[in-house]
Order: sequence, then C-alpha cells, then structure tokens
Amino acid sequence: MRTHNIAVIPGDGIGPEVMDASLMVLAAAESAFGFTAELTQYDAGAQHYLRTGELWTSDLEERLRGHDAILFGAMGDPAVKPGILERGFILAMRKAFQQAVNLRPVKLYPGVATPIAGLTPERCDLVIVRENTEGAYVGQGSTVHAGTPNAVAVQESVNTRPGIERVVDYSFRLASSRRGKLTLCHKKNILIEAGNLWQDTVDDLSVKYPEVEVDYVHVDAMCFHLPVAPERFDVVVTDNLFGDIITDLGAVIQGGLGVAASANLNLDGSAPSMFEAIHGSAPDIAGKGWANPVGAVLSTAMCLAQLGEQEAALAIEAAAVQVLAGLPELSGPGMGTDTAGVGKEIAALVGAGLPPVAGRSVMEDLAGLKVK
Ligand SMILES: NC(=O)c1ccc[n+]([C@@H]2O[C@H](COP(=O)([O-])OP(=O)(O)OC[C@H]3O[C@@H](n4cnc5c(N)ncnc54)[C@H](O)[C@@H]3O)[C@@H](O)[C@H]2O)c1
Repeated sequence: MRTHNIAVIPGDGIGPEVMDASLMVLAAAESAFGFTAELTQYDAGAQHYLRTGELWTSDLEERLRGHDAILFGAMGDPAVKPGILERGFILAMRKAFQQAVNLRPVKLYPGVATPIAGLTPERCDLVIVRENTEGAYVGQGSTVHAGTPNAVAVQESVNTRPGIERVVDYSFRLASSRRGKLTLCHKKNILIEAGNLWQDTVDDLSVKYPEVEVDYVHVDAMCFHLPVAPERFDVVVTDNLFGDIITDLGAVIQGGLGVAASANLNLDGSAPSMFEAIHGSAPDIAGKGWANPVGAVLSTAMCLAQLGEQEAALAIEAAAVQVLAGLPELSGPGMGTDTAGVGKEIAALVGAGLPPVAGRSVMEDLAGLKVK
C-alpha cells in the first residue's frame, strides 16, 4: 500500500469549507486508487493567532518538515491587520520551505462559463510559473517619518540570479514537455535592473533548451493579451508580484477565483511542497456555503500528481470538470448546491472511470517533472 503523509492547514474563512470538500474527494480517491493519505491537521490562522499570538514558529516548521506535502485552505480575517498572517505565515512558509515555484494553470475547462466572449477551451490552456520567494515579497523596506505628512516609504524588490535561475530552468523544462513555448513576463523597459537580470537568465538558459521558443511580454501588455489571446501562451514565467496579479486575471478567464488551483513547489526535495486554491479566505461569503471548492479540489489533485498518484489526479480533474460544467452558476447562492454538495458530487464521480479532460493536463506536467 502506498502511503502519503500529508499535513492539512484549513486556516480561516472559506479555507476550512473548501478543505472539507477537498478531503471528501481525497478519501474517494484513496479507495478508488489504492493508496493511503495519512492526514495530520494543524491549527493555524487568524483565530489561532488571536488566541496565542503565534504565527509561523520553529516548532511548527519542524513538524511540517516531516510531511510529504501540505494542503492549505486560506488565511486572512478582518480582525487581524492586513499583512500579519500573509507575511507572518504564508510568505514565511514559502521562504522556510524554499517553495520556489508557484505553479498556476490557466485552463478553461469544457462547459465552464468564461466572461470572455467567444473563448473556447482549445484556446486557453497555459501555465503561469510565478517566482515565489523573492521580488517585492521579501518583506524588506522601511518607513521614515511614519504617520506624519513627510512620511517616506521604501519597499525593496530583491532579485537574485540563483532565485531566478531555478524558476526559469523549471519553466524551460515545463515548456519542453508541453507545447515548447516560454514567455518571460516583466516590465524591463522601466524596471531595468531586475528586468535585465531576468532577461539575461532566460537568454543564457535558452541555449540548454533549443527546442523551446522564447518570447517576451511586458506585464501591462500581458493584461491585454491574456484575456483576448491566451492561445499565444504555453508557459509564462514571471516575478512574484506580477505573477500574483496576472494569475488572478487568469483565474477570471477560466471561470473565477473559485476554480483556480496552485502548487507551491520545493524543487530540491529538501522540504514539502504546499498546495492551495489561489483565492483567499473570502470573509464576505464565509459560513454561507457559497464558496466553490473546485480550486481547492484541483490543488489536492495537483498534490497527488506531485506525490506520484497521476491516475488519481487525472480522475479527480475529470470528475471536478464534469460537476463544474453542471453548476448553474460558479459560486454564490445560484450554484444549485453548497460547497459541501459540490465536494460530494465530485467524490461520487472520482472512481467512475471518466475519460481524462481533453488537452494537456497540469497533472501530467507535475508527474513528469517530479522533484527529487
Ligand atoms: N493564500 C491565501 O491564504 C490568501 C490569498 C489571497 C488573499 N488572502 C487573504 O484573504 C482575505 C480576503 O482577501 P480578498 O477578499 O482580497 O480575496 P479573496 O480571494 O478571499 O476573495 C476575493 C473575491 O472572490 C470571492 N471568492 C474567493 N474565493 C471564492 C470561492 N472559492 N468561491 C466563490 N467566490 C470566491 C470572494 O467572495 C471575494 O468576493 C484577506 O485577508 C487576504 O489577505 C489570503
């Protein structure tokens, strides 16, 4: 029996709701595909912080390090000042575990409504690789004369050749196994220091991957191209801040924040990777059962693909897509069921032997580029 030792951090708001739905689907996959997921739940997030003052601690880091992977719900609560949980926990985990790549597929699934008129699934199937530990998210900077009319804020963006090189190399390998096209997205006409370092790294590594065609798009132009011509892209590699922004745009194109999944990958096997939907804790709908759990379910499938359970991952994807296509609306009271109901419907289909979704799946990408 294959056993995977997985940490579960449900977090805040809709995090626990979408996590519960994902775990129903995971249980169905275990019985259908003959593996065991040993789950350990960890209490972390806003309530835990308000009660204990604890964010990311060395003790938690040590315990999480022993797991094969981490499933994460979402964190954030209006009772906690913005930035405390995000920087104090989420960014701290990505940094401590060197989860260098944030992998975000942008795939329009058949039957899913997109706000882009005329867009078809064949034209929208790309993967965005966001650098996940550097850039403007390193948390360095200072404010002098804070709270006065003369306040000066300096927020630094840190870009290192090794940090860029590891995500660019991963992106080349990914593109090589997909349609063979890599696009660098930056703002090198204005942010010339960082932009040139990114471009130089892409140019240098391109020699190793002659089969991959290389392209460049400014981040502002990306906001135009992505909705109207997503077929232009196969793999997009970009820095932390730009990636954060353009992947929300990507999510909208593929049906909304509720359906978009992600993986935070440690590339050298020194620590667990972490899997989460790209949305936050959505306090505006928490407790109502209005959250779409498909982003979290697909993130769980990505986790399984990374752990070597490709067949189960593809089956979850196929089941989720079938259920998604049948929802009258993709979130809110018009979904026709609630968050748990969507989870139950997907779980019921996981072992049904549905054919895999047409086109390239990120589940195959992850299984193919399995880290050490
Ligand atoms: N990785 C994370 O945990 C993460 C990511 C982003 C934001 N946050 C935090 O989450 C909190 C809320 O942030 P926000 O409102 O800017 O972003 P959000 O992603 O939580 O919500 C944005 C909008 O999308 C909707 N939405 C989100 N997920 C949905 C789902 N699964 N189904 C249906 N609708 C969904 C919400 O109702 C809201 O209207 C903040 O504290 C923020 O810092 C955390």
